[in-house]
Amino acid sequence: LALSVLATLLAYLIGSIPFGFLTARWAKGIDIRTVGSGNVGATNVGRVLGFKYFVLVMLLDLAKGLGPTLGFPAAVEELTGRAVPLLAVPVALAAIVGHNYPVYLRFRGGKGVATSLGAVLALDPTAAAAAAVGFLVVLAITRYVSMSSILGGTVFVAVHFSRYRGPWSASDAATASLIVVLYLMLIYRHRSNLRRIREGTESKVGAPKPRRE
Ligand code: G3P
Repeated sequence: LALSVLATLLAYLIGSIPFGFLTARWAKGIDIRTVGSGNVGATNVGRVLGFKYFVLVMLLDLAKGLGPTLGFPAAVEELTGRAVPLLAVPVALAAIVGHNYPVYLRFRGGKGVATSLGAVLALDPTAAAAAAVGFLVVLAITRYVSMSSILGGTVFVAVHFSRYRGPWSASDAATASLIVVLYLMLIYRHRSNLRRIREGTESKVGAPKPRRE
């Protein structure tokens, strides 16, 4: 148990690493929190610094979710000789909470899209791939990254739940609960975007953007 708690704590600290903030500061000396949407995620970094920085931050933030969710349960099993299948759930949650509420930025972090994608890629790659396709389709239609993230998350939830067959194991139930929590957190973290979409001021990909939220 001590090792599982340690793994969860470590996942939080890894999730907290603000790659978007650090990239913008190191690459251009910009405080990303003061420009564009003010968000520290890949979208805003790409919006302000250019597409290649979007790709870089996206991959780094995704790795914060994928690495611990995949690696920590395997590492604990290696160390103790016993599988802890449920460990992926608190570890994934901790990494995403770390990204959204990072200890290094006084708990003011991102919206958890890339980090959640990394985590769910480990938990259900088929639904994650469907979500990525959903994201791209909605983005092509609306040009809102925020809307695409939320609807991509909706696709993930729908595909994940539609694929359950037969009786639920404890691990299935824990994963399902995690997914519901992640989905609610995703929507909650996008509430300023949803307000801007209603007001017609949300930034679109390839269009001039509003100032800080
Ligand atoms: O990944 C976050 C995205 O969904 C919205 O980012 O910068 O437009 O608030 P942003």
